[in-house]
Amino acid sequence: MNKTLSVSAINNGTVIDHIQCGNALRILHFLGLIKNEYQITLGMNLPSKRLGRKDLIKIEGVELTPNQANEVMIFAPDATINIVKDFNVTQKIKTHLPEQVAEVFLCPNLVCVSQDKNIDSIFYIDEQGKHVKLTCHYCERAFDKDSLKVKM
Ligand code: CTP
Ligand code: ZN
Repeated sequence: MNKTLSVSAINNGTVIDHIQCGNALRILHFLGLIKNEYQITLGMNLPSKRLGRKDLIKIEGVELTPNQANEVMIFAPDATINIVKDFNVTQKIKTHLPEQVAEVFLCPNLVCVSQDKNIDSIFYIDEQGKHVKLTCHYCERAFDKDSLKVKM
């Protein structure tokens, strides 16, 4: 059989697979993994039977929590999250889109009260078919997930 992995297997950690192209960097950024010293392998625009093309993230030595896994769904509703131990997939985390998300995003509305550094943003999440919409708790405006900046 002529089957090779285009990104090598990991020993222990988390694999976030089937990420819609273009979302891998936002997810890494959101999980706060870029600034830390984790061993990360990143695949972008890899061929996928299910999605045509996909992004893929492998994080050695980190097990995402169920909460983090659910928050990843905001960026990539079709993603699958696998926990690897001793080179074997030991768990495929069952995820669902959270109802709300706090602190992660900045409201794009420049006159929104949440622009104040002392106020944590809160967005309510709605799934409309393939689109994920987030409504700001403070100004009540709705935004597409792709138009929101992740807080640094
Ligand atoms: N993987 C890995 N290192 C391992 C084991 C698996 O990086 N030691 C990765 C695989 O490359 C794959 C993901 O983890 O991207 C899921 O592995 P597996 O369940 O074996 O793949 P599939 O059968 O393709 O699962 P699914 O279609 O549910 O994603
Ligand atoms: Zn707002």
